[in-house]
This record gives sequence, C-alpha cells and structure tokens, in this order.
Amino acid sequence: MTSASVAIQVSGLRQRFNGQTVLDGIDLDVPAGTTLALLGPSGCGKSTMLKLLAGLLRPDEGRVVFGGQTVADATSYVPPEARDLGMVFQDYALWPHMTVAGNVSFPLEMRGVPRAERARAVTEALARVGLAQMAGRRPAALSGGQQQRVALARAIVARPRVLLFDEPLSNLDPELRASLSEEIRALLAQLGATAVYVTHDRGEAETLAHATVTLDRGRVAQIVYR
Ligand SMILES: Nc1ncnc2c1ncn2[C@@H]1O[C@H](COP(=O)(O)OP(=O)(O)OP(=O)(O)O)[C@@H](O)[C@H]1O
Ligand SMILES: [Mg+2]
Repeated sequence: MTSASVAIQVSGLRQRFNGQTVLDGIDLDVPAGTTLALLGPSGCGKSTMLKLLAGLLRPDEGRVVFGGQTVADATSYVPPEARDLGMVFQDYALWPHMTVAGNVSFPLEMRGVPRAERARAVTEALARVGLAQMAGRRPAALSGGQQQRVALARAIVARPRVLLFDEPLSNLDPELRASLSEEIRALLAQLGATAVYVTHDRGEAETLAHATVTLDRGRVAQIVYR
C-alpha cells in the first residue's frame, strides 16, 4: 500500500452559497511532500476550501489538480472516494460501535484490501501514532487525544496521496495541542505526505507547515513560506 505524494494545484476557485461569494478566485500550489496551513477568521472559507479539495463540494468555478490529474473543473468531477485522500476532522468522527482496529481498518476494507494485509497495515498505522496497545478498545474508552490519534491512523493507513486536516487539535488542551502538532509534523515528514491543514492557531501552523496561507473575505490575503 504505497502511494507517492503529489502536488496540489488550485486555480481560480470560486464558491457561492445562496448568492454569497465565500471563495472568490483562490490560486494555491502545494508542492508534493509539503504541508500547507490555511489560517483565517471564522467564516472566511477554510472548511469550504478543504471540502472542495476533498470533493465533498463541487466548485462553481475553477480547477483542482492532484499530481497532474484534474479532479474538479467545469467539465469534470472526481468523487471523494476516488481522490485517494485521507481526512481528519475536529470531532474525530470515529465509529463508536467499532474497535480502534476496526475504525483504522475501514478505509482498507473500502478499497478491498485482503484481510492479512489489512491487519499488517492497521498494526503499523497504530504503532506510528503510539496506540499499538489500544487496538481492541472502543473509542469511548479513549481520551480526546487518543481518539484523535485513531482518526490520524485511519487517515494514513491506506497511504493516500493527499491528507486534509480541519482543525484536528482544536478540541484538545493547549499542551496536548503543542505536543500532538509536533508529532503530526514528524509523521507527515516520515510519510512524505502532501497535506493541507486548517487551523485557527498560528503557532500550530508554524510548527507544522512549510507555508501558511491566510484567507480573508474569500481571497488569499497572505502567503508565508518557511
Ligand atoms: N453548505 C453551506 N450552505 C450555505 N452556506 C454555507 C455552507 N457551508 C458554508 N457556508 C457559509 O460559508 C462561509 C464559510 O464557511 P466555512 O465553514 O468555510 O468557514 P471557516 O473558515 O471554516 O470557519 P470556522 O473557522 O468557523 O470553521 C460561512 O459564511 C458559512 O456560513
Ligand atoms: Mg471551519
């Protein structure tokens, strides 16, 4: 299960809701193997941007390209399950009736990966996030930080070419946030993943990302490279 990371290119992206323009011509480039942080005030369109990358929304205008393949534009639209990506949300979104291992295994089942290979990949992903001992637990028996590690393991288990994060640490206390953001940085570097990471927290963005984009009123207001 390996999948080379790819560059993400976004051009002229526009999104309106009920006549209100939320994204007003966004151009972005994320080089393969790098992490881009998206910052900006509440309601500026960060989650909308991520949904357009994921394919959960189809843009009104513009183009999204993953590794040279157009996944959305005026005439084409690749659905989320065919985009080869992993996502981590603020609220973890784990299935409560499944064990930790069951949650992490799920994307592999969806891809038809054989059982033995699934077991190996799940063990490896859980080890990468420091949860090797928790495979048999239910999410309710884990702390918030541990639940978010499970969500992280689930996002990386199939080695997707793109990883998307929507404020994954904002429900955690500041100390845990600092240590987990460092862990996520190290993990993304190990995987060589291409990632877009939405956050309100400038410090988190600085820890994690190779470049930080600030959105304001539907446009790119600032890009800072490191
Ligand atoms: N499905 C939708 N229908 C109508 N309006 C929407 C929809 N999704 C988002 N919006 C509006 O688009 C704007 C941007 O929303 P978005 O969720 O992208 O903001 P955000 O930057 O992620 O904010 P936050 O930091 O609070 O999460 C908001 O005004 C929101 O109300
Ligand atoms: Mg949001």
